[in-house]
Amino acid sequence: MTDTAVVTGATSGLGAEFARQLAERGHNLVLTARDQERLEAKAAELSARYGVKVAVLPADLATPEGVEAVAARVAQPDVGILVNNAGYGLKDDFHINTAKAELDNLNVLVSAPLRLSHAAVNSMLARGGGRIINVASVAGFVPRGTYSAAKAWVISFSRWANLHYAARGLSATALCPGFVHTEFHERMQMDKSPFPGWMWLDAERVVREGLADAFAGKSISIPSKRYKILASIGRRGPQALVARVAARGR
Ligand SMILES: NC(=O)c1ccc[n+]([C@@H]2O[C@H](COP(=O)([O-])OP(=O)(O)OC[C@H]3O[C@@H](n4cnc5c(N)ncnc54)[C@H](OP(=O)(O)O)[C@@H]3O)[C@@H](O)[C@H]2O)c1
Repeated sequence: MTDTAVVTGATSGLGAEFARQLAERGHNLVLTARDQERLEAKAAELSARYGVKVAVLPADLATPEGVEAVAARVAQPDVGILVNNAGYGLKDDFHINTAKAELDNLNVLVSAPLRLSHAAVNSMLARGGGRIINVASVAGFVPRGTYSAAKAWVISFSRWANLHYAARGLSATALCPGFVHTEFHERMQMDKSPFPGWMWLDAERVVREGLADAFAGKSISIPSKRYKILASIGRRGPQALVARVAARGR
């Protein structure tokens, strides 16, 4: 039996591309995000194109009800792959955002992946293993606001879970992309123009490299050589340089 994959944030960007590449590999899918119409359109497109079963599960991962609804589906025994991908950034600085906006963001970026990983680990260990892919960011390697702090949690959690459960057939991989062409920056009303073309990656490549690393059991996946170098500076470079970059963040 081919494993079913649950993908959060599957209506656009990296999540939509994860859904497409997993369908191409023959996996049945459960797609989740808030926009039901977009989910249904994506499900119809992928099932027609790849002949796999695609179910939709509309849910807002900022809410406990939304997260529990997805956790209940993740805990089913057919699920062998979980992609914790849903996420967004906040446009304003920490002290300008409301506390609710920050907490909602933390729920989507951290609490939801924690809860869904918990559901996945328990059922995947019972079925002899599985793959958890947590979409983090290279931003998780430098201190740049609460977004980076949340992604640092995702990286640290994935590294630990991968070490802890590998012997039992379960891998956890933090996918750490740099800038990717998706709806992310438009949604947070960010001006993309200061960032040169070489800094941008396509979702197709990021997901292809992420899946290859996840299926190889790696704990961290950093797509492209250029971002491997930048991430290495962020992780191991002179802290004065890292601080200068960080100072320009929110
Ligand atoms: N693009 C980049 O440069 C970049 C770089 C590094 C990391 N990332 C990370 O990549 C992941 C995917 O982002 P993307 O770039 O593909 O952005 P995107 O195109 O804006 O997609 C974000 C997805 O998350 C869903 N989502 C947002 N808020 C949600 C909520 N409250 N509940 C449930 N689903 C929600 C959206 O669907 P609905 O609106 O329908 O809910 C959408 O499907 C995020 O975790 C992001 O932090 C992105």
